[in-house]
Amino acid sequence: MRFPTGSRTPLATAEPHREVAAGARRYLMCRPTYFDVVYSINPWMDPSKPVDPRLAVLQWQRLHDVYVELGHTVELIAPVPGLPDMVFAANGATVLDGRVLVARFLHDERAAEAVAYLDWFGSRGYEVRQAAWTNEGESDYLAAGSWLLAGSGFRTDRRSHAESEEFFGRPVIGLTLVDDNYYHLDTALAVLDEQTVMYYPAAFTPGSQDILRGLFPDAIIATDEDAEAFGLNAVSDGHHVVLPAGATRLIAQLRASGFDPVGVEVSELLRAGGGVKCCTLELRDRLPAQRSPGAGLSVVVTSVASDSHNWNLVFLQLTLEELGHQVLNLGPCMPDELLVSECLRVRPDLIVVSSVNGHGFRDGMRLIGRIRAHPELSATAVVIGGKLGIAGPGGVRSRDQLRSAGFDAVFEEDSGIASFKIFTERLTMSVHT
Ligand code: ARG
Repeated sequence: MRFPTGSRTPLATAEPHREVAAGARRYLMCRPTYFDVVYSINPWMDPSKPVDPRLAVLQWQRLHDVYVELGHTVELIAPVPGLPDMVFAANGATVLDGRVLVARFLHDERAAEAVAYLDWFGSRGYEVRQAAWTNEGESDYLAAGSWLLAGSGFRTDRRSHAESEEFFGRPVIGLTLVDDNYYHLDTALAVLDEQTVMYYPAAFTPGSQDILRGLFPDAIIATDEDAEAFGLNAVSDGHHVVLPAGATRLIAQLRASGFDPVGVEVSELLRAGGGVKCCTLELRDRLPAQRSPGAGLSVVVTSVASDSHNWNLVFLQLTLEELGHQVLNLGPCMPDELLVSECLRVRPDLIVVSSVNGHGFRDGMRLIGRIRAHPELSATAVVIGGKLGIAGPGGVRSRDQLRSAGFDAVFEEDSGIASFKIFTERLTMSVHT
């Protein structure tokens, strides 16, 4: 097994027969600041045995760092005192195509975690809803290709399967768990890439085993020992598979199948019945690449922090939508940092900054520096327009200054909407060729 070093693992080490579908992923994690075992809601939890909170934090930190070293982005949700299981972020929600179905926990002890997730996603502009039926998020819902595998039997209510199917618009395949040691789907099955899974058959009813055999004839099958070592509670980026170091046979099987296993120690977290995958919620955003070819641009429309005018933004949104583009209108008074984080999330083709309060020049100069400071946004088209200076159109000089600060185009009120439309048409052609 290779442990990642400071650099990205070269993908060239993959077996030649396997198409490497690995890509940078975005994960949400929660530091185990208040981790403890004070109640027992699964057979792994024994409140009479004290946990070592320092060790839990160290193991979690290592897992976090492994993701970063593999080139993934890790977002953090703040831990809440009194919620000792909140480290298990995978339980908090399911995120697919940028839509978020927040969990509804079975046990009262964990119910309040859902509030923190509603808040986290809601304040970042995701389309969020809390599940109506008991639903423990990605611990029971695993995306496999275009399907959604859904566990039930111990936690997630089967009635939530129909709700998720409707919400995400993906076919849900229900799988029933029978062994309470494997009370969540992600303790008994891991998705490795679009076509491959690994699982522990004995955790499922005979009918569900048949379904799995039919869907995944080439699956990697785990032994009792590796399942007990929580080896199936693993996170794959399509190439690297992060899993407990103790799952030694699985590690060999994964390598033989062309994956690159990365072992980590999660023994202290296992005292609560959680491991690698439990700590990791994948943020599956809608990427521009998923748009159908020939469609319009994905555009973020926004104003600057000091500007509270709304109608100019609505006008721009309608104009752009009429031209066939998809618009996310962030509204007025947008703080620079929030705008940047939204753009990092959505990765639009175009950012349109509109300001009419006369401070657009000053605010725009600051904002563009902050946008361009992110390598991910260094090539994104960004334009500014409206009434940018208090003394009326700023003229060639201020336009040049804005352009050399990083804007691709400046549309002042005297130039009208026509030149803006021409700009978006050209951009559409260049994005789709
Ligand atoms: N103590 C937690 C519980 O029983 C552990 C959750 C593990 N998370 C997971 N994704 N399987 O709810």
